[in-house]
Amino acid sequence: MDLGAKEHDELRQGEAYKPFYNDPNQYKKHFYIESYGCAMNFADSEVVASILQEQGFGATNNIEEADLILLNTCSIREKAEQTIRKRLTEFRKFKNKRGGLLVGVLGCMAERLKSKLLEEEKLVDLVVGPDAYRSLPILIGEAETGQKGVNVLLSRDETYADISPIRLDSNSVSAFVSIMRGCNNMCSFCVVPFTRGRERSRDAHSIVAESKDLFEKGFKEITLLGQNVDSYYWLDEANGHAVTFAELLEKIALINPSLRVRFSTSHPKDITDEVLYTIAKYDNICNYIHLPIQSGNNRVLQLMNRNYSREWYKAKVDRIREIIPDCGISTDIITGFCTETEEDHQDTIDIMNYCKYDYAYMYFYSERPGTLASKRFKDDIPEDEKKRRLTEIVDVQYHLSLKSNQNDLGKTFRILVDGESKKDPNFWKGRNDQNKVAVFEKKNHGIQMGNYVYVKINSCTKGTLLGEFVHF
Ligand code: SAH
Ligand code: SF4
Ligand code: F3S
Repeated sequence: MDLGAKEHDELRQGEAYKPFYNDPNQYKKHFYIESYGCAMNFADSEVVASILQEQGFGATNNIEEADLILLNTCSIREKAEQTIRKRLTEFRKFKNKRGGLLVGVLGCMAERLKSKLLEEEKLVDLVVGPDAYRSLPILIGEAETGQKGVNVLLSRDETYADISPIRLDSNSVSAFVSIMRGCNNMCSFCVVPFTRGRERSRDAHSIVAESKDLFEKGFKEITLLGQNVDSYYWLDEANGHAVTFAELLEKIALINPSLRVRFSTSHPKDITDEVLYTIAKYDNICNYIHLPIQSGNNRVLQLMNRNYSREWYKAKVDRIREIIPDCGISTDIITGFCTETEEDHQDTIDIMNYCKYDYAYMYFYSERPGTLASKRFKDDIPEDEKKRRLTEIVDVQYHLSLKSNQNDLGKTFRILVDGESKKDPNFWKGRNDQNKVAVFEKKNHGIQMGNYVYVKINSCTKGTLLGEFVHF
């Protein structure tokens, strides 16, 4: 049996796609939603599901029975948008077959293209941006009378704090909880500040309440979400106290020691010692940090507007390892950014080897209209060269991931069981504290989803630890 590398099914910004669950037949109307892009989009789809359910729409995973088809879209790279366009053409056949079927585009692509999307994609009836989901009922009502509905207004304060998300396609073990929206960073390559608007933090009380509720419903793991979680800042007007990200983490950790807490994403310039000490202090805050570097070259980092140098970044990684010795660290890297030379690229490889990432999400640069880079710099690295550099860093990371997993051979980890192995239903799958995926044979131990179990690691691939159950 080959339990290969593909168990790593982390949701990251990209072209991930997730169909979902069946709803009991209590609703007259049904919506079908597909989500693309980052975890924030998946979390937003759960807010949308809640808003629609209030309006009498039940969720369905059967597109054939849907009255409303929604795509929650991503604009991060050109390819992400192409995927959506292709999917929209596939929907045409449903639209032709069934009168009255509505098709809506939500999320970042809706925000980026606005009503242009209606001209370009004739079958689209609704275009709704990330801050406008509360207007969905009105827009659907209008669309039902044949008008096209568009709302792409961005907001300075919308956080959907009061809406209880409906968990879609959930394993009932892990859930995402949004803690902030938008981004103020203006990395020059990035479309997110334009599609998601200004950064704003959600009321800490509502985050704690939602997390407690999830725990009471049996969830064992919460991932706090934001484009830049370390700049979380919420002023409690009742007592004048400003809650920082470290304090928020602590509040969630204190809900219960058996609730695991994760978070994503940290910006290297903003992660503080206070956060690192909080992670170290609580066993149930996972020792894992996703710390996107993007490039290892100072000149490129400056063009990217990342606001740190390679030296600063390396010192940050050293600091993480000093305060949390067994911390898992992953990253994001872009190859072939404007003007990147072969030497600059080698600097990226060099820093990868220095940081010894456990995992990396790697992309070649894709120019996005409207971004600072698209206005200021020429996208001058030929695609072949971007891809060659990408292949090279993927190969470097392959060895780093394998080495990192080989270092775990013989160790015993506490794993939270979150599903069956995709490759073999006789195996359970789960994650350790460092966010590594581990699989082990079920046998007759009476293990269930959501259990914590100790697993001894005997072998590995670059993406998966393979072990055996030791005890509960
Ligand atoms: N807020 C998160 C990242 C959001 S986008 C953060 O700062 O870490 C996720 C990743 O997509 C980025 O880290 C970057 O590596 C990649 N990305 C963003 N814009 C891109 C572009 N124009 N071309 C290629 N990759 C891009
Ligand atoms: Fe984009 Fe940078 Fe904000 Fe991340 S921090 S979302 S890369 S602008
Ligand atoms: Fe994509 Fe928007 Fe997330 S562009 S990565 S879905 S914030």
